[in-house]
Amino acid sequence: MAPTAESLLLQVLAKDGITLTTGLTTVALFLTAYLVIDAIYSVTLHPLASYPGPISTAISRLPWWWSCITGDQVKFMVKLHTKYGPVVRFSPNDLSYVDQSGETWKDIYGYEKGKEEFVKAQEWFVTPHNGVNSLISAGYEDHRRMRRLFSPAFSDRGLRQQRPLFQKHTDRMVARIAAVAETGKPLDMVRMYNATTFDIMGELTFGQSLGKIDDEEYAEWISSIFRAVKVIPFVQIIQYYPWLNALFNYFEPQFIKKMKNNHHRMASDRVDKRIERGSDQPDIWNLVESAQEGQGLSLKEMHSNGEFLILAGSETTATLLSGLTYNLIQNPIVMQTLTREIRSSFAKESDIAMDALTSLPYLDACMHENMRLYPAVPIGVPRVVPEGGRIIDGRYVSAGLRVSVHHYSTFHDPGNFKNPYSYAPERWLGDPLYKDDHRKTLQPFSVGPRNCLGQNMALNEMRLLIARVLYKFDLELCEESQNWTDQKVYALWEKKPLICKVKLAAA
Ligand code: HEM
Repeated sequence: MAPTAESLLLQVLAKDGITLTTGLTTVALFLTAYLVIDAIYSVTLHPLASYPGPISTAISRLPWWWSCITGDQVKFMVKLHTKYGPVVRFSPNDLSYVDQSGETWKDIYGYEKGKEEFVKAQEWFVTPHNGVNSLISAGYEDHRRMRRLFSPAFSDRGLRQQRPLFQKHTDRMVARIAAVAETGKPLDMVRMYNATTFDIMGELTFGQSLGKIDDEEYAEWISSIFRAVKVIPFVQIIQYYPWLNALFNYFEPQFIKKMKNNHHRMASDRVDKRIERGSDQPDIWNLVESAQEGQGLSLKEMHSNGEFLILAGSETTATLLSGLTYNLIQNPIVMQTLTREIRSSFAKESDIAMDALTSLPYLDACMHENMRLYPAVPIGVPRVVPEGGRIIDGRYVSAGLRVSVHHYSTFHDPGNFKNPYSYAPERWLGDPLYKDDHRKTLQPFSVGPRNCLGQNMALNEMRLLIARVLYKFDLELCEESQNWTDQKVYALWEKKPLICKVKLAAA
């Protein structure tokens, strides 16, 4: 009997079905074999095979990525260092260090004459929407050029010229807190500090304040920045795998495109307006040498740096100020001592000035201790070992592998700091109880040619803002903000509101 069309179709399907099943089985077998061989290689012949760490992280990056996505990366790393010691292999090609002498910082991030710098792991920095790198993500040559150009804006001389600007926004913040204090309503100090540091950086970067201090709510721009923080680990994962990155660039979801575009446009439009308007104020662009378009910096580089600086200069400072306020309220004796130091040093509020505050030792100790206990950058920032490999912490590490000093683990290591989870400013003031502390290991601004350019500005700004708050107000923590430091980390802390009752201090 001649075959019917249906029977022929069934025959073809059956044959192709078998071929398809065989094909899939072969692919699955190859994949399994590859994964097994790769796992065996990772724990036997891989250059990091002899480093301590769990098998799960030696053979796969998944445990690490999972901790980043869930906001538990700091807890994950502290747990590994507590169990495995000062160096740990937390993914097949990555080592994390707890610096115990100040030397590991230099080995990885420092500058050594005649030797190539460790480059940054690129997936850690989200490329600006215009595709042009800023200071934070630029390669060696571009970074050197930009760093040289930007340095005057962050120098002592630059800061001296910028003082009136800091003073003006601090006055605005104090007036706003006083207005709330009069109503007797509680106040979210995180919001207050964020608004103030945004206004300061806005004026420095765009020549115009963003006017956030007087807003009741965060403006959409700031809110969208906070929402974007949670997306950072996903972007890092995508950027880590070139094939995934290529695929993602093609199919990038609209909401991410919009988010990136929005932030870039907000910053670049303001930079453009500032250039058009000109300014006789000591903002960043008047202090950056040859900051006119085409002379030293391209317009796109100005846009990218504007986008980076508004974030780098505001979020970190606001984080530390919020942490400092919380730690002081939770430690009433420290709060009393600091308040006494500040109130007794100035006859009137208007005498409080940046340069006078540098001579208050207890204030300095409180700030250092806060940067240790609640670092604004709690993670390790990875670098890639250059050609020829390098000796790190006394041991050779091959080229191409990734290394970092983990900030939070280093600052909380019981070998580095006695009672590491206590807030103890006395450790910075020569108290014999803390004589064995390894103070050099506290490097919240990192070290070397790519350390924080804004550290001098940040320290001066923080001193001024906290001193003015404590001079004028008494603060009390509201019930809902107890355990405030119990927070997730997505590269930066996901800060919760810090709700305080604020009263004018008795004169
Ligand atoms: C308040 C606390 C701050 C902390 C803890 C902090 C921390 C850091 C760290 C750890 C880095 C190095 C990142 C890396 O290795 O890739 C860095 C870089 C940088 N920070 Fe900060 N920062 C703070 C505030 C500021 C402020 C106020 C500014 C200025 C507006 C600023 C501007 C920069 C710049 C421009 C870089 C890049 C430097 C370069 O690559 O040459 N930072 N910061």
